[in-house]
Amino acid sequence: MDSYIQKIREDSPTLNQSIYLNHASTGPLHGRTAEALRKYTEFWEKSDFEEPSIVRENIREQFAQLINGSKEEITFTPDVTHGTKIAVNLMNYDKDSNIVCYWNDYPGQVYQALYLNKTKNIEYRPVPDQKNVIQPEDFAEKIDKDTKIVLLSHVQWLSGFKANMEEICKIAHENEAYVLVDTIQSTGANVNDVRKWDVDFLTCGTAKWLLGPDQKGLFYMKKKLIEEFYPPFAGYHGTDQGSIFEPYWNVNKLEYLPTIDKFKDTNPGSFLYYIASKGMDIILDYSIQKAEKRIKHLTNYLIEELQKINLKEFITPLGEEYRSGIVNVRVKDNIEIVKKLKTKRIITSSRFGGIRISPHFYNTSEDIDKLVTELRQLL
Ligand SMILES: Cc1ncc(COP(=O)(O)O)c(C=O)c1O
Repeated sequence: MDSYIQKIREDSPTLNQSIYLNHASTGPLHGRTAEALRKYTEFWEKSDFEEPSIVRENIREQFAQLINGSKEEITFTPDVTHGTKIAVNLMNYDKDSNIVCYWNDYPGQVYQALYLNKTKNIEYRPVPDQKNVIQPEDFAEKIDKDTKIVLLSHVQWLSGFKANMEEICKIAHENEAYVLVDTIQSTGANVNDVRKWDVDFLTCGTAKWLLGPDQKGLFYMKKKLIEEFYPPFAGYHGTDQGSIFEPYWNVNKLEYLPTIDKFKDTNPGSFLYYIASKGMDIILDYSIQKAEKRIKHLTNYLIEELQKINLKEFITPLGEEYRSGIVNVRVKDNIEIVKKLKTKRIITSSRFGGIRISPHFYNTSEDIDKLVTELRQLL
């Protein structure tokens, strides 16, 4: 085992007491994030939040590295869904407009389309799948000149299917539609590239694969669109507020900043971003390219080992190009099995009739062996 991984494992209170294979739900507590939590209480004790605020601002640069954007294209949102809300509310809908979204995507996305359908009569065009595979052609069939925006998760939360963003963005742009991608199940585990994808909006959160403590949002918008769009909500943190030492807001007129921060509605706070920044360091110090490679190696191994114990019905499409950090395999009594695994300190989750297993780069083949051995006994 390489010494970096060994150290990460030794330092983590969670990894010391369990086989943690549940990054699609939440990240575990790491040594560095535990230390950040402790330090934050010291800042709080002294009522001195300057350092956490600086660290929070630096998270834009860290996140930019992970998606190949620039820090000037990234701002803070309360959660992942808020980023989707911004994007759908930027559109200029008319009576013929439609929104295209994968039918079984995360509810935070699908509900935006359903809501606009219910409240503004905007047509919602759900994209079907074939055995959880969603092809660019499936999108091409739904997108037309009246499509305003396409909503999609890069990696599906239930199946782990990874979409071909480049092709889908190309189809959307040929029809002058925008694309919003949710990468909460992908950033931190996959090499993301907003430039290559040519995506317009990206929404993500600090938890899960990014190893933050809980969800706070991060929102990307392509640079040339920042000028073009006016904020859809009247958020006061997107206006010039003076300095933190002498804050003021001109309440006689509403004037937004010319930067990406015009979409920052509220005070983002520093607590969760401060800790999340230390979580992101764990990935950046290792390299996202190396992390993706190791996750691929581990999930390939996991699939092989599951097949050996006769678990062969995968909710996850097995084609190499569709794969991510999530492997979901159908198991009878999946909810009970996940609970029993937990009593053995093996952490997974039950989703969609299967066991969803989601290792990060610091998991090992021994972790997988222990899971498979327990599963074989339980089944
Ligand atoms: C694909 C996806 N999007 C979004 C979220 C969370 O959204 P929010 O931060 O708005 O609760 C999750 C899981 O928590 C998810 O799996």
